[in-house]
Amino acid sequence: PEAITVQELANRMAEKGADLVKAMFNLGMPVTITQTIDQDTAELLVEEFGHNIQRVSEADVDIVTTDDVDPEETLKPRPPVVTIMGHVDHGKTSLLDALRGTDVTRGEAGGITQHIGAYQVKTKGGDIVTFLDTPGHEAFTEMRMRGANVTDIVVLVVAADDGLMPQTIEAINHTKAAGVPMIVAINKMDKPEAKPQRIRERLLEHEIVVEEMSGDVQDVEVSAKTGDGLDKLLDAINLQSELLELKARPDRDAEATVVEAKLDKGKGPLATVLINRGTLKRGDIFVVGTQSGRVRALHDDKGRQVKEAGPSMPVEVLGLGGVPRAGDTLTVVEDEQRAREVAEYRQEKADEKRTTVAPTNIDTMFSALN
Ligand code: GTP
Ligand code: MG
Repeated sequence: PEAITVQELANRMAEKGADLVKAMFNLGMPVTITQTIDQDTAELLVEEFGHNIQRVSEADVDIVTTDDVDPEETLKPRPPVVTIMGHVDHGKTSLLDALRGTDVTRGEAGGITQHIGAYQVKTKGGDIVTFLDTPGHEAFTEMRMRGANVTDIVVLVVAADDGLMPQTIEAINHTKAAGVPMIVAINKMDKPEAKPQRIRERLLEHEIVVEEMSGDVQDVEVSAKTGDGLDKLLDAINLQSELLELKARPDRDAEATVVEAKLDKGKGPLATVLINRGTLKRGDIFVVGTQSGRVRALHDDKGRQVKEAGPSMPVEVLGLGGVPRAGDTLTVVEDEQRAREVAEYRQEKADEKRTTVAPTNIDTMFSALN
């Protein structure tokens, strides 16, 4: 943060230096006229004297910058992040179960996904793909939006026996808004009433022209039940991913995005993060939103302890000071003091905002309550 001497501030305000010293004393912060004070104290003083302050730029007070760019030669290929989206019950989780050889669907309350799941799958060819499973239920718009925003590719799942439904269309819109390429997976092809061609036609109404209709959006017919078409789906993902030439720098301090966070009764605050770049290691000190922490343990998607996590890997982090919000960025910093300083600064900013800005729509209102 920018600092200024009491004298210089007095000059800028056209007040007497001695009056500022007196005011500081009255505020319980004795200073001399040549002493340097920080931006926040300066603001306080300015307000004390009834002036208005203008911060030169947001960068004046920005403590952690996350927009630095890694040089081209440091970049290495990274796995694609693929988000599965679509209407409720169209088979998103079942498809992932089939790809992973797991049975997440069975363990879900009422068979409804209520959170974002993050998994890695190794294909036959040895490629790794990171998958995010999103809920299809209409209540989870914000989660779907988030899913579309952290991903490289969206797989839109449409049940062949049901067709385009409200959350299918919502997912299409989020994907377009995020500017992410889409692959259409027409699921439940094992059902006798499956009508894949109707889906392709209806997609045209939303300006999605699939390859079967001579367009350039890949479409694959699949069945999560029989496993038919899954290899083709992975091939389609692979092809799309190659076109994107996804890269990130692995050998640097990690930067990650919170996919989900919660308070676990036994383990304390937990966050599932997706590494954007760098490598997150045990012992790393970090800030994440308004929280700080030190990585106590890292778990992969199968619950196994890992020492570190590189680009595109989803990992559960233990060692947070509190529960961050989904969508927050985790940034590794050099020491604990720095981490606390940044976290506290952000908390103050957040408090200011909360008291001055009213939520603008339902979504921000919900996220403000999270
Ligand atoms: P939400 O997460 O709640 O949006 O649902 P989802 O899209 O994850 O659907 P889920 O995988 O939970 O599947 C919903 C139902 O469809 C379950 O009963 C599945 O067994 C069934 N199902 C999923 N895929 C197929 C398929 O390919 N064929 C058949 N016949 N049934 C399927
Ligand atoms: Mg599901």
